Amino acid sequence: MLVLGIESSCDDTCAAVLDKENHILSQVTQNQLIHSQFGGVVPELASRCHLQTLLPVIDEALNQAHVDKKDLQGIAVTSGPGLLGAVLVGLSIAKGMAYILRIPFVGIHHLEGHIFSAFLEENIFFSPHLCLVVSGGHTQLILVPQKGSYQILGTTLDDAAGEAFDKVAKMLGFGYPGGKEIDQQAKKGNPLAYHFPRACPGKENYQFSFSGLKTAVLTQLKKNPINNLADSERKQKIADLCASFQAAVVEVLINKTISAANQWKLQSITVVGGVAANTALRAAFEKKCSEQNMRVFFPKPSLCTDNAAMIAAAGIFRLAQQENSPYNLNAFANLSLADWNRKNKSSRINLNPILNNLHE
Ligand code: KG4
Ligand code: ZN
Repeated sequence: MLVLGIESSCDDTCAAVLDKENHILSQVTQNQLIHSQFGGVVPELASRCHLQTLLPVIDEALNQAHVDKKDLQGIAVTSGPGLLGAVLVGLSIAKGMAYILRIPFVGIHHLEGHIFSAFLEENIFFSPHLCLVVSGGHTQLILVPQKGSYQILGTTLDDAAGEAFDKVAKMLGFGYPGGKEIDQQAKKGNPLAYHFPRACPGKENYQFSFSGLKTAVLTQLKKNPINNLADSERKQKIADLCASFQAAVVEVLINKTISAANQWKLQSITVVGGVAANTALRAAFEKKCSEQNMRVFFPKPSLCTDNAAMIAAAGIFRLAQQENSPYNLNAFANLSLADWNRKNKSSRINLNPILNNLHE
């Protein structure tokens, strides 16, 4: 089985081709640089960019995989959550291709894609496991009792972890998205230079909150402005702020994840989403999990941030179970993974008879 994955939920236009053993035959991601001048993603511009680039990106993915579109056996596409217009571009193209090629397509919840990204390269899947999703749009702890079923243990009450990284980066004058730059700067800084708040403490509290932390960095910058400092002193202050902010995020993420893993007696943890590329977070998880005798899995950095290989991997699983989507599947902006799964159980159907009728 050869499956084309399509992802266009935010500001990355992505296509990938995978075979049924989850080998990535190609993975193409086109970043939309236009948003950096606005300090955040402009939804209308994102949709227009997807419209212009998605078809060439799909062609490129097919070329790199040396696969003719007629050889595809299925299409997996993000149907939400995300920017509605952006998701619609991918979904419409997926439906059009599926119709013309007479193959099934399946709508995938973006977070299910991230969950599959952790095991993609090894082509294994440990269950039960605990998944920490940390990205620009989401921060969630998800219990995965088995492949394809999910229980959400906690989520953020305000900003996502990546959003906090991006907002602090903006305060410090970095481009968008700024998580990677904070990661780099933090390597030169002292994580103990400032003590920033760790929100939602308490045993068995798996909710997150990062907006207070972001405000604490802003308050620090207002009280002690850095713009007029000598160059070397300013650079050191920026590095210290990055290291101290990052340490606060990492500590909260690790403590809550390990505590949930202990409560549910889980030995395997995955950390996925754009922030899972953070070097300090990866190192701290490796250390803590080895102390606790737990296994931790991260995708490689190019599979942490949004990509179509993870959507194809989730699609291969769904398609193998005959879980195809109907043509009236709509894009959605917001729906939890658990709710979406419940809703789609009844609406996913075996499309082949319908396709045959349509083409008669
Ligand atoms: O998963 P992703 O590509 O998009 C969403 O689904 O949201 O995640 C993007 C987020 C951005 O907020 C970006 O700043 C953050 O991931 N990010 C990082 C790093 N690389 C990307 N945050 C911290 N450290 C990094 N190395
Ligand atoms: Zn994502």
